[in-house]
Amino acid sequence: MAPAIRHLISLDDLSDEDLRAVVGRAAGLAARPRAAQASLRGDVVGIYFRRTSTRTRTAFSSGALRLGAQIIAYGPGDLQTNTGESIEDTGRVLATMLDVLVARTADDPAQLRAMAAQERMAVINAMSADEHPTQALADLTTVLRRFGRVDGLRLLYLGEGNNSAAALALALSRFPGAELHLRTPPGYGLAPDVLARARAHAARCGALVEESHDPGELPAKVDAVYTTRWQTTGTTKQDPDWRTVFAPFQVTGELWRSSPDALFMHDLPAHRGEEVTAEVLDGPRSIAFEQAENKLYSAMAALEWCRGGELA
Ligand code: CP
Repeated sequence: MAPAIRHLISLDDLSDEDLRAVVGRAAGLAARPRAAQASLRGDVVGIYFRRTSTRTRTAFSSGALRLGAQIIAYGPGDLQTNTGESIEDTGRVLATMLDVLVARTADDPAQLRAMAAQERMAVINAMSADEHPTQALADLTTVLRRFGRVDGLRLLYLGEGNNSAAALALALSRFPGAELHLRTPPGYGLAPDVLARARAHAARCGALVEESHDPGELPAKVDAVYTTRWQTTGTTKQDPDWRTVFAPFQVTGELWRSSPDALFMHDLPAHRGEEVTAEVLDGPRSIAFEQAENKLYSAMAALEWCRGGELA
């Protein structure tokens, strides 16, 4: 009997144990990349990106191929959804031909859930407006590889409470002792429902998630400082003066020197001179490009999990 498929549209689709297993599997694949089994041999994976992507699209395409699957890529203008076919009908048809669909819609996640309203094809969210779950998998894989643990990690996040921040909060809050200190510009914080869900996870798991809009009030000592670009893919800001609001949240050399033991994280792409200075991003304590590389291994682990695999 074929294994049951699993959808990954939100971090909340993973149990605490599943999350730990996927991140552990990704770190294992990173340690021995050539030892990956052809666990997706015979599968066909659809790669459907309606928005630009360098890392996520390549990670899932390369990852699927490395696991023995074949891929079909669709651009934003390719499917009949552009001529009015419903998302539900599209998902129903694709599910008869594909085993997994990796989709970046940058739209309402309800569209991804509509695609997932079938039991034959796993659907993976490669970034929607509210959450970027596979980014958090890469981030935690990077932390695990660097620190040997995620439990107890203390992380300062500076910047917009966007889809990467949402996923980070929903993921890190499941690890005992972990602390996520968010400093978000006023008016650009984490969505209230995401913050509430992350805090509920944290209360259950013995972690901490706190947010303020004061970049001058920072935690005393952290293991890592994380930021993200100010213009999230597929979004625009209404306020013409938004840069003034964001400016105090830049990761500067001065801030950086006040955290001499911390590593620097960034989901990329970066805009040097906006959210972070080149000195920090390109400095010796930056692990931003390790995060990018780990997107490959976490994509492979996510694909295996979605296909019902037991993750060693
Ligand atoms: N971090 C990230 O999702 O990168 P891409 O937009 O290039 O996929």
